[in-house]
Amino acid sequence: MADDLDRDKVAKAYARWAPVYDLVFGQVFERGRKAAIAAVEATGGGRILEVGVGTGISLPDYRRTNRLFGVDISEPMLRKAQERVVAQRLDNVEVLSVMDATKLAFPDGWFDVVVAQYVITAVPDPEGTLDEFLRVVKPGGEIILVNHIGAETGPRKIFEAAFAPLARKLGWRPEFPWQRLRTWVDRAAGVHFIERRPMPPLGHFSLIRFGKALAPPQMQAAQ
Ligand SMILES: C[S@@+](CC[C@H](N)C(=O)[O-])C[C@H]1O[C@@H](n2cnc3c(N)ncnc32)[C@H](O)[C@@H]1O
Repeated sequence: MADDLDRDKVAKAYARWAPVYDLVFGQVFERGRKAAIAAVEATGGGRILEVGVGTGISLPDYRRTNRLFGVDISEPMLRKAQERVVAQRLDNVEVLSVMDATKLAFPDGWFDVVVAQYVITAVPDPEGTLDEFLRVVKPGGEIILVNHIGAETGPRKIFEAAFAPLARKLGWRPEFPWQRLRTWVDRAAGVHFIERRPMPPLGHFSLIRFGKALAPPQMQAAQ
């Protein structure tokens, strides 16, 4: 289900954000990023895909035993990530590549974990993006999101609806409803909901985990 946040708008918005992104969003999003990485590490880690890796702000926080793959639609954001990888000698980062989250150039079941921090409300097609995450994660692997989720009632809901047109120009949807993720997981085959954990500031953000089902046991060929 696509809506009015299109790919060009998003790419333009993040080209503008790239020079100042870490300054503006570094601290604000820090707790959620750390929680997402702790959740990745708790799975045992391995081959990790970070979608919407942006300036690569979270890359130094993963254990060096993980093999990291970062993709993003914005080349200016990725250039910052590349500079960080070189400056901090992050030799566990295997790939940084311009790529659309709905068209990941990786084989099925390739990653132990797919993680997207503050991304699912910024992509033009959240459901298509989640389908693609599910395709590239291995059976038994996890999809880990951290994101602002829109309020269901009250003044925050009114504010988010009023702010939505401007926020689209800045590159995200502030009114994104939790129900959209719930509906996706209920309809998609072979994935289950693990948890939704409120995150600061004020619990407006959530850490969300989905698990991909283990492959069904292979039928033994008749002797
Ligand atoms: C709010 S930033 C989050 C950056 C980083 N994950 C962080 O924790 O700060 C959203 C990122 O998602 C990227 N993005 C948006 N749409 C995308 C898409 N369709 N495919 C890949 N990346 C996308 C943007 O370019 C941007 O870098």
